[in-house]
Amino acid sequence: MKTIREFAEAKAEGRKIVMVTAYDAWSARLLAAGPVDCLLVGDSVMMTLYGERDTLGATTEIMATHTRLVARQAPDKLIIADLPFLAVRKGNAHALDSAAALLRAGAHAVKAEGVRGHADVLHHLVESGIPVMGHLGLTPQSVHALGGYKVQAREPAEAAQLRTDAVTLQEAGCFSVVLECVPAALAKSLTEALTISTIGIGAGADCDGQVLVIHDLLGINPDFKPKFVRRFADTATVMKDGIAAYAEAVRAGTFPDGKESFR
Ligand code: KIV
Repeated sequence: MKTIREFAEAKAEGRKIVMVTAYDAWSARLLAAGPVDCLLVGDSVMMTLYGERDTLGATTEIMATHTRLVARQAPDKLIIADLPFLAVRKGNAHALDSAAALLRAGAHAVKAEGVRGHADVLHHLVESGIPVMGHLGLTPQSVHALGGYKVQAREPAEAAQLRTDAVTLQEAGCFSVVLECVPAALAKSLTEALTISTIGIGAGADCDGQVLVIHDLLGINPDFKPKFVRRFADTATVMKDGIAAYAEAVRAGTFPDGKESFR
């Protein structure tokens, strides 16, 4: 994918959208020539690369730095970058500055969590020519208000609120919405009701697309395995084995050998 317009085309044609997080030159290079449609420079970078417990430490500067690293290595991919904690809560000017920094760093669109209380700001970004992806359900920037990383909208009243929020996002002009950790049946009915595309993470198979954190799908952090993650590779084991083989070869004096040495 090269533009956000392809999200609408994919939905119309029933083609699933594949999104993965990328944070650095290494992951962007890996994904640049591959089959994934678009890259998300997620504020999950705070947890995956910085080892923090949540995403709240992300700033516009941090997100712009990682967006730049990804954009340089994956120039042909559609790149969406997360607006950091509270960036859309300080009014239009602050949100515009934050979004502008991310687009200048190479993003083609931004993602913002929630909608209640800041739909007008999202609309202002869209009217300013900045494509916005929404994010509802489990919104990690609200982890303390939500009482932890839990499945959302299980109760009928919460499901109704989520439906209203999704329509509000659509009316604000968002081109897509991430649905995180919501019951599959609710995600399915929202996907059918909305004209914009839904991207699921822990939201069942019926969304218009899926997103996963690259570390999770590659099994880079074996200690983290929520229900909704499928580990498509056991990268941690491959890496550990490689490091062990290197250490053994050094200690045995078999690395470097003649071919690996200069004459
Ligand atoms: O920050 C992130 O990686 C995200 C995805 C989990 C959707 O927002």
